[in-house]
Amino acid sequence: MREHDKYFSADQDPYRNPQTHTLKNIPDLQTASQLKAFEEVIFQANFQEATDNITSRKLIDLSGWMAVHHICFSEVYEWAGQLRTIRIAKGNTVFSYPENIEQEANKLFKKLNELLHSNQLTSALAAEYFAEINILHPFREGNGRTQRILFTEVYRRIGYWVNYDLTDQEEMIKAMIAGYNGDYDPVKGLFERITKPIKSFD
Ligand SMILES: Nc1ncnc2c1ncn2[C@@H]1O[C@H](COP(=O)(O)OP(=O)(O)O)[C@@H](O)[C@H]1O
Ligand SMILES: [Mg+2]
Repeated sequence: MREHDKYFSADQDPYRNPQTHTLKNIPDLQTASQLKAFEEVIFQANFQEATDNITSRKLIDLSGWMAVHHICFSEVYEWAGQLRTIRIAKGNTVFSYPENIEQEANKLFKKLNELLHSNQLTSALAAEYFAEINILHPFREGNGRTQRILFTEVYRRIGYWVNYDLTDQEEMIKAMIAGYNGDYDPVKGLFERITKPIKSFD
């Protein structure tokens, strides 16, 4: 069973082209591999603008995430920057139901911003928030890449650079699954390894 099949067969997922089963996309690419390659080019081209957008904001929150997603993917998907309308799951992880995303996001980001503003956000705690915020999965696609942009900025604000090249998809997914099950040690270990205090570069 593929990840999206838990709630929707490919035919029922309104985000997919019913003939090709590929996500509907602006250039109307017909295969998953063409779409993946196009997504990657567009994402890279807009990455800096998205980073600058989140960096310029007072709060790191759902609106900022939506803006980042829109900047990264508006040339790929009509719904870029908009919250998803269907339920999604990956493996055994069931992400937030669409009707709850806003409320759950506001709760998490409110606490995150309070910790940031009172200088109480440690790097280990930020890693726990990463795992919690992953469960929101507010968009139909592109959650991982855009969440990483947000957390580069979270870590910068507490004095760390993040280098995601020091991890890989397998380690990240394992850490996200452990976090979903209430074990934050893997995500804390992951971020401990891929972050470095900014002042150590002085
Ligand atoms: N089984 C899972 N449980 C929890 N999180 C997962 C699982 N599998 C993948 N993820 C997370 O979801 C992200 C992928 O979500 P997706 O919306 O496809 O983003 P992107 O398209 O940017 O990779 C991964 O980076 C990982 O963090
Ligand atoms: Mg994806």
